[in-house]
Amino acid sequence: MRKPVIAGNWKMYKSLSEGLETALALKPLVANANHCEVVVAPVFTAIKTIADRLEGSNVHVSGQDCSTEIEEGAHTGEVAAFMLRDVGCKYVIVGHSERRQLYAETDSMVNRKTHAGISGGLTVIMCVGESLAQRDQGIAENVVSGQLQGGLRGLTAPDLDRIIVAYEPVWAIGTGRTATPEQAQEMHAFIRRVFAEGHSTEAAEKLRILYGGSVKPENIAGLMKQPDIDGALVGGASLRAESFAKIVNYK
Ligand code: PGA
Repeated sequence: MRKPVIAGNWKMYKSLSEGLETALALKPLVANANHCEVVVAPVFTAIKTIADRLEGSNVHVSGQDCSTEIEEGAHTGEVAAFMLRDVGCKYVIVGHSERRQLYAETDSMVNRKTHAGISGGLTVIMCVGESLAQRDQGIAENVVSGQLQGGLRGLTAPDLDRIIVAYEPVWAIGTGRTATPEQAQEMHAFIRRVFAEGHSTEAAEKLRILYGGSVKPENIAGLMKQPDIDGALVGGASLRAESFAKIVNYK
């Protein structure tokens, strides 16, 4: 059985006090959510305070990104995965489409970040997803399998237990346009097949694949009914504790 993961990606929103307020409001609202892992990803500067205040609760903290570098060193502006772990993170998101599009992240950088995340003791939520133009050209599967294989290159069998894949079609992120549960299911099943071919059927059966892109309280239940959808990566609707709690408590 794959335990679902519902993760809120706060992106570059919320000051420290606003983030803390949301986190503390969320905590009691999801206290009985034992059916899934609950994760929030605040900005770097808020992680330590929020992680400290959530300690002992069932809400875990994620970084939104980490350095490609494993070791500390002269890399101005970067934050290493082990430093995220040091301040209370359990997870890190890598390869989000905004990083790929706005900061020119390549599959090889995503791959290095994935390795860095694992060696820093984190579970890595690696994002993949095609653009609208790529979907319209009929190459969505090629794009996603390329990102998947490129991003996961060189991982060993034990590493795979620390990997979560998030399928986020770029055309559904922040647009209000969600993939239908069937569209998402089709790609999730494809991702599981590609993962099985690249690694093993056993590892693929254990892999959690999250859907992301305009997930809301109104559409989460339909998505979660699909056999290969194992949770969600939520942007906009995770910014308010009440709406994110409704998503977490979809059951
Ligand atoms: P959205 O963002 O839920 O606002 O579409 C999802 C994401 O970017 O992870």
